[in-house]
Amino acid sequence: MEEHIISGYGFNSGTWPLDENQSSLLFIHGSGGSSIMWKHQVESLTDRVNTIAIDLPGHGKSAGDGFNTVADYTHAIIEFIKIANVPKPIPVGLSLGGAIVQQLLIEHSGSFSAGVLVNTGARLRVLPLIFEIIEKNFDQYINSMAEFAASEKTPPEKLEPLLKETARIKPEIIVGDFRACDRFDVMDKIADISVPVLIVTAEEDKLTPVKYGMYLEEHLQKAKRVHVMDAGHLAPLEQPDAINSALRNFLDQLNL
Ligand code: COA
Repeated sequence: MEEHIISGYGFNSGTWPLDENQSSLLFIHGSGGSSIMWKHQVESLTDRVNTIAIDLPGHGKSAGDGFNTVADYTHAIIEFIKIANVPKPIPVGLSLGGAIVQQLLIEHSGSFSAGVLVNTGARLRVLPLIFEIIEKNFDQYINSMAEFAASEKTPPEKLEPLLKETARIKPEIIVGDFRACDRFDVMDKIADISVPVLIVTAEEDKLTPVKYGMYLEEHLQKAKRVHVMDAGHLAPLEQPDAINSALRNFLDQLNL
């Protein structure tokens, strides 16, 4: 895996330079996350397509102070795709990242041939307690992340690199991320998405329950849902093999 910074955007890629004849899986992390969230996918799927995981503005290696709307993060992704010259991008997003992917597919329908929505929803209201803990006791937020965002069966060492990255992000940026989720609602727009979409839900996801993924499956025109066992909200780190095989099967379906 290679680390890069171009025009203030930090990102990791499986190989570099990108192969302009291949499609590119463009991975987008969730609230308070970073490109590390997709480490296993970037490393594993690079034999098949270009793989790139971006740090959203204000996260990981990226400059900036973050945003508090999905629309602003969506503009940043469009700008990054142009700046890094990402060939044939297929956006893959978790939670807030999944909200961004839905917005990309709704507002820039001609630019993407498919998308992947992992542990996300068409509406993402946030528990007021989450804002309160981040603002009043950031250490407690970091220390409780494993408990509320992962399966209790997940060994702590699988989450450690992400928790370290999250602890380095300014709390107000993470509040902005959750504010963006809380304002997000495209329930009456997702039926317009006409490209194939892979939806992934996880058995023990408390933050974006399976019900949210089932709603997406029901309302998107061309959706296929994969359900991952023994994982919570952070499934790409918790059950990387299951997520990678779901992505490989989706690439088969797309003839890539
Ligand atoms: N897909 C399908 N259904 C959804 C949905 C989605 N994305 N988002 C909400 N709904 C449903 C809810 O299940 C609920 O259905 P019900 O009335 O049959 O129980 C209804 O729409 C209204 O829910 P919501 O808009 O979330 O408002 P609320 O006042 O009932 O609940 C919270 C607010 C914050 C308590 C709730 O959203 C929650 O528990 N969220 C999950 C925890 C969290 O903070 N996640 C962070 C996401 S980034």
